[in-house]
Amino acid sequence: MSLRHFLNTQDFSRADLDALLDQAAVFKRSKQGQQLAGKSIALLFFNPSMRTRTSFELGAHQLGGKAIVLSPGKDAWPIEFEIGSVMDGDAEEHIAEVARVLSRYVDLIGVRAFPKFQDWQVDRQDTVLKAFARFATVPVINMETITHPCQEMAHIMALQEHFGTTDLRGKKYVLTWTYHPKPLNTAVANSALTIATRFGMDVTLLCPTPEYALDERYMDIGHANAEATGGSFRMSHDVDEAYEGAHVVYAKSWGAIPYFGQWEKEKPIREAHKHFMVDEAKMSRTDHALFSHCLPLRRNVKATDAVMDSPACIAIDEAENRLHVQKAIMAMLAGQG
Ligand code: CP
Repeated sequence: MSLRHFLNTQDFSRADLDALLDQAAVFKRSKQGQQLAGKSIALLFFNPSMRTRTSFELGAHQLGGKAIVLSPGKDAWPIEFEIGSVMDGDAEEHIAEVARVLSRYVDLIGVRAFPKFQDWQVDRQDTVLKAFARFATVPVINMETITHPCQEMAHIMALQEHFGTTDLRGKKYVLTWTYHPKPLNTAVANSALTIATRFGMDVTLLCPTPEYALDERYMDIGHANAEATGGSFRMSHDVDEAYEGAHVVYAKSWGAIPYFGQWEKEKPIREAHKHFMVDEAKMSRTDHALFSHCLPLRRNVKATDAVMDSPACIAIDEAENRLHVQKAIMAMLAGQG
């Protein structure tokens, strides 16, 4: 059997995803386990984190394992990822050694590596994650690169819990862009689109202009998933129409792909759409929709205090579920072979 990583949910069957969600529910009811007894995970953070670091570290501990957190370039050597590179720059060692050495020490490797935001054609290659998966001889987990599959699983778990059913087909799901003073990663938006269509919902991508469409890879996944599940996927720029009758509103800000590397040109468009903030008036157009966000969230910029503090908001439940789904993912990967 070839080594299995957790890089994207599309690599897994619905049965696999359902089994992970079932196991996550078991861990939610009963915290402790021995699935990682005597095992360890290296967590490599190239970018900041609060939820991901805490939930992975704690999750490994609760399953009897040990987590080691590293920040390459800060508390660990800077790493070179280009194959054949003449390493006369800042990097002190190559991924070919880093991934193989870590694989001799630990049983799992988690990687967070955001895009550089200068050239999407480069960023969309997901070079750092793919290099770890190529050179590691233990399973690699995507802790957010250009997608955020652990967030996807926590999100679906929270929706299933609040709707009281595992069958989300027929739910009207709005993935809305929101304003943020800086252009942000498209990862969570790519992931929300992927998983919402995968679970058969009727998905509307609400964004200011066509330039805020996600990468064609994820737009294609959205259409293919919708066709396979009997759901639907469309893009809209009409706020009122998109919210009408919605059952789920999921908010995220992201930078428009055509403006990567020339963000000063994107800024006026973003600034002109501050009104995309999720507020009570918009939520009142929905069919008592649940609201969520991956967090961190800037209050009264992306969503109002009233929305964040309303019973409709399930963002804290989703954040909690990160712990449970990641334990299920670690247990599944550590148990293979
Ligand atoms: N949602 C999420 O991944 O949170 P952190 O960036 O705090 O890890």
